[in-house]
Amino acid sequence: MGKIIAVSIPKGGVGKTTTALNLSISLAESGKRTLLIDADPSNQIAISLGIKDENDLGTLYDALSYLKAFDQTINNTENPNLDIIPFKNLSFKDELMLADISFDQNLLKSIIQPSIFEYDFVIIDCPPYLVGMTTNVLNIADSVLIPVKSSMLSLSAVEKVMTRISEIKKTTNQKLSIEGILLTMYEYNTKAAFSAKKELYTKYPGNMLSTAIPKNTSAEEATFHHKAVVELYSWARSTKAYKQLADEIIENNNFFKADMMTGLDEIEQTGVDIYSFEE
Ligand SMILES: Nc1ncnc2c1ncn2[C@@H]1O[C@H](COP(=O)(O)OP(=O)(O)OP(=O)(O)O)[C@@H](O)[C@H]1O
Ligand SMILES: [Mg+2]
Repeated sequence: MGKIIAVSIPKGGVGKTTTALNLSISLAESGKRTLLIDADPSNQIAISLGIKDENDLGTLYDALSYLKAFDQTINNTENPNLDIIPFKNLSFKDELMLADISFDQNLLKSIIQPSIFEYDFVIIDCPPYLVGMTTNVLNIADSVLIPVKSSMLSLSAVEKVMTRISEIKKTTNQKLSIEGILLTMYEYNTKAAFSAKKELYTKYPGNMLSTAIPKNTSAEEATFHHKAVVELYSWARSTKAYKQLADEIIENNNFFKADMMTGLDEIEQTGVDIYSFEE
């Protein structure tokens, strides 16, 4: 049984979609069976990949509105290890319908089918807020990957998602854990980015991932070409970082399995010394 990872923080433009997309492709390229689900009604995964859903493409919205069974909304890609469920290019009528149905915080839980558990990883891109679709996702996820654009303004959003995770753990989904905090668009050698990083390491020492994604024009350019940077620019710094992130997540989850087998109840993530962080 695989792991369902929500990519979430209640802040816009911090690299959630870029991370969900490039991490999923990198996991698939490492041989892990991966399902990428877009739970953001702005449908950014499909837009990023230039996918149009006029024809037979299955979408999450189809499943949420009972037009199709969840399994019928899974689309294969050219990579045999990667499947995708886009959200849908919503019409105004669809948006009204969605506002109605996403009051149900367990809607996603009620429509997913056992096929979801056949993947090694299910990566779910969330919208930049915590209500509606995000709560639906957090109710089925095993863990949350929190991308943080390295600025002080993102720090309060980290606190908000941490509080929400604790609330959900206490109520509707006890298994929910933190996959890690990921520094995105990191600007090496700027004081502001370093201060934000230092504050995060001080506040959340056990939750920081050792990989950071650098700010890199190739990542932005790839979006214009409707491709993921890891597919388009193999030499880009952000490509290397996303591949390293996939390796780190695979390794962390191997530890998870090994610890489960030795019967340990609590799995503690190793903290990373702030000064050993690669600049
Ligand atoms: N490492 C990076 N370096 C430079 N630009 C980046 C990087 N990662 C993402 N971007 C750019 O930043 C913008 C926002 O990224 P993205 O769409 O992934 O954020 P998001 O958190 O999903 O936004 P939203 O909250 O609107 O869904 C995009 O134009 C993207 O191309
Ligand atoms: Mg997004």
